[in-house]
Amino acid sequence: MVTGAAGFIGSRLAARLCAGGWSVVGIDAFTDSYDPAEKEARASLLADVPGFSLVRGDVAELELQGLFRGADVVFHLAGRPGVRPSFDIEQRYVHDNVVATRRLLAAARAAGVRRLVYASSSSVYGNAPTPFAEAAPTSPISPYGRTKLEAERLCLDASDDGLGCAALRYFTVYGPGQRPDMGIRIFAEAALHGRPITVLGDGTQVRDFTYVDDVVDATIAAADGPVEGMAVNIGGGSTVTLNEVIEMLEGLVGHSIDAERVGFARGDVYRTEADLTRAKELLGFNAKVGFFEGLSAEVDWIRDRIEAMEGSLA
Ligand SMILES: NC(=O)c1ccc[n+]([C@@H]2O[C@H](COP(=O)([O-])OP(=O)(O)OC[C@H]3O[C@@H](n4cnc5c(N)ncnc54)[C@H](O)[C@@H]3O)[C@@H](O)[C@H]2O)c1
Repeated sequence: MVTGAAGFIGSRLAARLCAGGWSVVGIDAFTDSYDPAEKEARASLLADVPGFSLVRGDVAELELQGLFRGADVVFHLAGRPGVRPSFDIEQRYVHDNVVATRRLLAAARAAGVRRLVYASSSSVYGNAPTPFAEAAPTSPISPYGRTKLEAERLCLDASDDGLGCAALRYFTVYGPGQRPDMGIRIFAEAALHGRPITVLGDGTQVRDFTYVDDVVDATIAAADGPVEGMAVNIGGGSTVTLNEVIEMLEGLVGHSIDAERVGFARGDVYRTEADLTRAKELLGFNAKVGFFEGLSAEVDWIRDRIEAMEGSLA
């Protein structure tokens, strides 16, 4: 089972599992967190993948126990991402991240699922000292981060010999298919259209960017690794400032980018960096894709998308 299968990471995970010979049932509610047409497009690509089937519906409302019966692993990626909107619509975050996870856990246990892998987030750390280690205190600074932490705790508290639960704390995921509300996608699209960009903050903030296929590798490894009852950081190992991202994008699009710098956004942490000791030891995880290579792949994907759209309008 892959919840959030029409999402950025979930769709990539589902396709990879099917390519590895698994039968995958995806669940997605096609929520309005961003244009659902983008989720529909991913779902229609998955519809042609042998071994994949889709159930449309809300994890907080579906009759999950029947769906989960016979499932070995549940990868729980459904959720409402994004820090900034979480201040305005906190209850939606509570519903999609906490209520949905609570129901899913009860159903997974009742159905005899062996392993649950939860997509948690680096935002549980807030502005803790870096590199963030899993044992460090968590102190999220946004409703998004708080709901991810609460859901993660529900999963880890539920873990036992019957249902082994692991929470992977993903660090800013990027690459082809990235969500349209995420920084790299917004900057690259604007740059390719020759439009100016707005940088929230002075651009010195640092992110540990993680390429989507590396995240998928780690997520699949967590289905069998000895990580029951644990949180594990999954980071790309490359800490880059936003200003460096913009410089690299200028190189990739072949012209300078007109960037206006405004105030820092509420809820955005200043620096993220994963301590990857646990991921390496327990999951054999090593990010394979360096930042510039991954950024180039995302820019190529966005360029192809723009050309396809312009072609369909011509
Ligand atoms: N992208 C990142 O950088 C990042 C970083 C840390 C953690 N995460 C977590 O990873 C997961 C996937 O992130 P993503 O970037 O692919 O986001 P995404 O929004 O593209 O995918 C999430 C999917 O879940 C679905 N969904 C949401 N609530 C649902 C519900 N109640 N029932 C059924 N489906 C529901 C949405 O429709 C969406 O298709 C999320 O849980 C997110 O919090 C992502």
